[in-house]
Amino acid sequence: MLGLGFLPSLAQDAPAVWEVGTEPAFPPFEMKDEATGDLIGFDIDLMKAIGAAAGREVKFISLPFDGLIPALQSKTLDAAISGMTITAERAQTIDFSRPYFKAGLAIAVKEDDEAIKSFEDLAGKRIAVQIGTTGADQAAQVEGATVSTFDAAPLALQELLNGRVDAVVNDLPVTLFAITEANLQGIKIIGELLTEEYYGIALPQGSEDAAAINTALGQLIQDGTYADIYRQWFQADPPELPEVAPALSSGTATGLNWAQLFRNLLRGAWVTIILTVLSFFFGLIGGALVAFALISPVKPLRLLCRIYVDFFRGTPMLVQLFMIYFGLPALFQGLGFDISFNRLFAAVLALSLNVAAYLAEILRGGIQSIDRGQWEAGESLAMNPIETMRYVIFPQAFRRILPPLGNEFITLIKDTSLAAVIGFEELFRQGQLTVATTYRAFEVYLAVAVVYLVMTSLASIVFKRMEAYMDPINRTKTVKPEPITPVAST
Ligand code: ARG
Repeated sequence: MLGLGFLPSLAQDAPAVWEVGTEPAFPPFEMKDEATGDLIGFDIDLMKAIGAAAGREVKFISLPFDGLIPALQSKTLDAAISGMTITAERAQTIDFSRPYFKAGLAIAVKEDDEAIKSFEDLAGKRIAVQIGTTGADQAAQVEGATVSTFDAAPLALQELLNGRVDAVVNDLPVTLFAITEANLQGIKIIGELLTEEYYGIALPQGSEDAAAINTALGQLIQDGTYADIYRQWFQADPPELPEVAPALSSGTATGLNWAQLFRNLLRGAWVTIILTVLSFFFGLIGGALVAFALISPVKPLRLLCRIYVDFFRGTPMLVQLFMIYFGLPALFQGLGFDISFNRLFAAVLALSLNVAAYLAEILRGGIQSIDRGQWEAGESLAMNPIETMRYVIFPQAFRRILPPLGNEFITLIKDTSLAAVIGFEELFRQGQLTVATTYRAFEVYLAVAVVYLVMTSLASIVFKRMEAYMDPINRTKTVKPEPITPVAST
């Protein structure tokens, strides 16, 4: 599955598959089934039904909510279904299908909060929202409020639960679901709906799939399939706003299934290992080439490599990742090449480029730290420069390089967590997804941290072993086990 599929794919050959983006931390519209790891939810079922009706296979790609519209703009996705409200601003950069759900924003506060009773009461308060949502837009209009944005709606609710904010502005069905179905106790919804909103399937501008999607959706509404799916997820017709949040007793904690969490984290750890090993491998090759270029006598080459190293060491990894994943395809498309990156490819590319810059400097430093006299020694033994490098310089340099190399490897293990921002389901993202359905942030992230710790500790043991092995003192010991007896030197 994680084989060679990371090569860039040319998006030209119009496939029978729709790649549909979604941010699966928005229950009950899209979420991950804790047990199977599959995507489930109202949107998921609906999109599958639309695909079936239109004779297309639907492949879901999970991305952060605020990454969906950029991905549609760069045509990395064929569509996105993610409880996304049809708004005039969004319609300027992307297209929408006909509406498929009626929703609206609601305010959630702590159950014992008597101060906030309406939108007006939010003035001057602390509000949490999900980044890039209509809820965030709404909160921005509140006078004097401090708004904090989170990657996912459940994180914002978590913030409220933790008492760090006074209110959350979020889609009513989602907050409602969190209160009744998930482990979110002590929160209530106040007042009436702030807005009336309609969700639509988002499409790249001018998408040729719009007609097929609209026809299929219309058909499902007609033949009752839509109503069936609706009933299955909401047990009713469109929800009415309750006076108070339903008794929380009924929704007693889905709870945290430790065995399941462990399995998910292992799955994530495996992806993390693959990312680390691939990136380190390519980074090492790239780094070695750049290191030699840095000490080569060719000045323009040196200059070029210096710029490369400085750029990748001097800018945040996160920015590089966004540049490559969201930026490059758009750039290429601007130049007329219809190219789009697969996620693994983008992540490995960004990580390798970054790590190569560091490794280049480490390798260069190591080689240059070897005394000039060693080169002369090689020469006097009639070795050519390549032989001297291979038999004299490199073995010595390698010993000095090893400790910083180990550091770099450990840093890389941790840095792979940044790939979560492009929706890569590595270790950290697996944790995020679990938190999104269980609201048990501390335990889950602690577990994630422990798994990272195990991986970095193992790596550091391996590097320590290698260092010990490379140490000439240890080596003589293993080669000559007999006790060293002092010998008079000549
Ligand atoms: N309906 C809101 C919006 O369009 C929030 C949607 C958030 N969706 C999600 N999958 N997180 O802005």
